[in-house]
Amino acid sequence: MQIAPSILSADFGKFAAEVEEVIEAGCDWIHVDVMDGQFVPNITMGHQVVEALRKRFDCTLDVHLMVAAPERVISAFAEAGADVITVHKEATPHVHRALEMVRSYGIQAGLALNPGTALDGLEYVDDLIDLLLIMTVNPGFGGQSFIPATLNKIRDARERLVKANRGNVRIEVDGGINLHTIGDAKLAGAEIFVAGSAVFGETDRKAAIAALERALHE
Ligand code: DX5
Ligand code: ZN
Repeated sequence: MQIAPSILSADFGKFAAEVEEVIEAGCDWIHVDVMDGQFVPNITMGHQVVEALRKRFDCTLDVHLMVAAPERVISAFAEAGADVITVHKEATPHVHRALEMVRSYGIQAGLALNPGTALDGLEYVDDLIDLLLIMTVNPGFGGQSFIPATLNKIRDARERLVKANRGNVRIEVDGGINLHTIGDAKLAGAEIFVAGSAVFGETDRKAAIAALERALHE
């Protein structure tokens, strides 16, 4: 089980200190939300941010590319030091190629699915992924509410992966994860929990992370 704070919700004016704080609180995954203003309306950060974090921190950098045609930027993020790169199925007609590209750098590959995207076709790429990111909100913004219908999709995905002998693929959930939703997501089969506002929206981040951990183990 892994809580991955999303730095999208951090204070960009004191970025390094924010990241340091959650690492000191015990998180060894940091979720980096990359938005291109095309696949999703906002623009956030580029590979330079990953490079800067890599120089300074030892944690797992979990890069979520909300970018159209992600194959254009995979090399930049891999060379910048990402440990995990996740691409959206909806962002490219060549998702198989994109996942192969990520793997070619010897790093972990993730496939992300929007709430409205079915699990169909998972069996054709499940040998190329280390994680399946099930979006529990529509991507683009922090602070949205968890979509309950995604719980069935998590259960369904877990079942399909186990049946296909790919039970080692970890399911990550992203969006609206907080004290009220994290337990249900875990029961449905998720193992990595991205949390933006539930961590950085609290003044005491250490306490916020500890509370999420407790809710996970209840
Ligand atoms: C949404 C991003 C999320 C977001 C989560 O597009 O992919 O990672 O930062 O934020 P919260 O936890 O506030 O929903
Ligand atoms: Zn994300």
